[in-house]
Amino acid sequence: MSRHAPARLRLGVNIDHVATIRNARGGEHPDPVRAAEIVAQVGGDGITAHLREDRRHIRDEDIARIQAATSLPLNFEMAATEEMVAFALRHKPHAACIVPERREERTTEGGLDAAGQHNRLAPIVTRLADAGIRVSLFIAPEPRQIEAAMKLGAPVVELHTGEYAHAEGEARAVELRRIADMAALAAKNGIEPHAGHGLTYDNVSAIAAIPQLAELNIGHYLIGEAIFTGLASAVLKMRELMDAAR
Ligand code: PXP
Repeated sequence: MSRHAPARLRLGVNIDHVATIRNARGGEHPDPVRAAEIVAQVGGDGITAHLREDRRHIRDEDIARIQAATSLPLNFEMAATEEMVAFALRHKPHAACIVPERREERTTEGGLDAAGQHNRLAPIVTRLADAGIRVSLFIAPEPRQIEAAMKLGAPVVELHTGEYAHAEGEARAVELRRIADMAALAAKNGIEPHAGHGLTYDNVSAIAAIPQLAELNIGHYLIGEAIFTGLASAVLKMRELMDAAR
């Protein structure tokens, strides 16, 4: 329990994999919109959805349907492409989280190279921000990426917790320290730090205890648990673990 933690760590629920299951049969069930409604009913703080180039889970029309169905803020995960910028400008989500995207990857495997891609990202960040969209950059917990986010003027970074989630023992402790240090560095420089990827009931507590973090985005594990216990119960249990860690 940290004495310095902000009152509430927000939980954004990534509902992509409800759409993955729907798309396995090509019909309409299960509908990610119904998942968004349940997340809202049980006190989730936001909905996260990634419209990938190959539309493997969330489809274009899902985004407007999610926005119409709930008043929760939508965190729109997007690649830094003209197609996705145009889409975000049309739909004006609360936030846009820019993620790296490679067609052959199973999930977003690494962080965005904000440092190496400054010139490509700068006009995108400006266009989204000018439209009133809160821009977030999904980055590895590295000082040079935080510095790059500062140069780009991003108000939010989401720290990639995948390495932490996959590491064990001492290596996990090292990854946790990197995330805690980068959350502190971001906050010190006026950037709101979020975190996500690979978080589960077993590994969320140490991340949730990092006092500067304002939001966690969690998807795959929650949707997997929902198969066994229901989505409402899975979200509530994650919420309890997050609250207990603060
Ligand atoms: N945050 C970002 C930026 C992501 O790309 C993802 C995965 O789509 C998540 C959070 C959620 O990760 P997971 O599904 O492993 O919980």
